[in-house]
Amino acid sequence: MKLSKYTLTDEEYQEILAFKRDMHMHPELSGAEFETTQKIRSFMESHNDFEVLDLPVETGLIARICGDIEGPEIMLRADIDALPQNEAYESEWKSVVPGVMHACGHDFHTSALLGASLLLAKAKKEGQFRGIVDLVFQPAEEGTTGARKLINAGLFDLIRPEAVFGMHNWPSVETGKVVCREGALMSAKCNFEIRIFGSGGHGSMPHLNIDPIVCSGAVIQSLQSVVSRNISPLDNIVLSINMIEGGRPANIVADQVMMKATVRSLSEEALDRAIERVKAIVEQTAFAYECRAEIIWSERIPLVYNSPEMTGYARAVAAAAGCELSDAPPSLASEDFALYRQFAPSFFYWTGSTAEGDPVEDLHRPQFHTDDSALYHAAALYAASVLEYRR
Ligand code: NI
Repeated sequence: MKLSKYTLTDEEYQEILAFKRDMHMHPELSGAEFETTQKIRSFMESHNDFEVLDLPVETGLIARICGDIEGPEIMLRADIDALPQNEAYESEWKSVVPGVMHACGHDFHTSALLGASLLLAKAKKEGQFRGIVDLVFQPAEEGTTGARKLINAGLFDLIRPEAVFGMHNWPSVETGKVVCREGALMSAKCNFEIRIFGSGGHGSMPHLNIDPIVCSGAVIQSLQSVVSRNISPLDNIVLSINMIEGGRPANIVADQVMMKATVRSLSEEALDRAIERVKAIVEQTAFAYECRAEIIWSERIPLVYNSPEMTGYARAVAAAAGCELSDAPPSLASEDFALYRQFAPSFFYWTGSTAEGDPVEDLHRPQFHTDDSALYHAAALYAASVLEYRR
């Protein structure tokens, strides 16, 4: 491993590794991260350089450390929630909660940020740290609702950062490397629910009823044309209907059908156009089949976008943290980290998290796991993002 002045000591590393393994064993779903929040609070309180700020949220936590010298206020963000799935990867710290698993490595992010907090406290003791750092442990990233919760609870009344940094572990990249990609990194997205209302009755008398199932079939088929016919082939976009529900017995025409879908793109303009087409196709297909349709849109999440200025800075940070730069294509996964960019310039790292030579187990898979030694690099990146700022 390449050492830098931001490398954790063995003792510091063991402390956050123990935290990570405990968090991994006891994962909690989005919005229910009560114990996790409590454990982060205990960690912060056991190191007396930190003040836990008072934000009225049930889960998640904001902690602050102030340098003795005046300087910029910077926010570092990690997410803390887990996913509803069974863990298949065998280890001593395998999840003990059936059906819940840290399959996206948010335990890694949380522990890395705790590691960075130790580095910042050390820098403060050495008189090397100026300004204010706000450590934001965000709940409910998986449904992309947690950032909004914090914002609505007054996060940016409480803190006034001039820059925001976040990261995600990236299994396809080796430990020790980091992706500092300029431009669109992760997709803009809008989830939506479609409800098609018909009029149910006896299955043998279709002419007396209005069948929302046949209409839904037409809607599903027609929506395929949004990506293939309405969007430039040069734009990256995906539209998927991932859930459908309607009807019960074989002899009754259903009253209504409900579908859940997502549309996402690396171009905000392409997403605008897709949303416009979804509305028209759903409403007018329903009309053609004598049904009525409703679309319920979730909050639109913008692109995770790294500006040229912030990318230039991030690459310098990566070098100072002893990380090698790596390249990876952007992803159509989304991240509600994107919402923070409305409040301050932001940068999002992808930190390599698979040991050299190991098979890649990607995010959200039952076999997913992170190479723990990548915590050294992740903690260094978070800390260096602050300590290298405007030097
Ligand atoms: Ni994630």
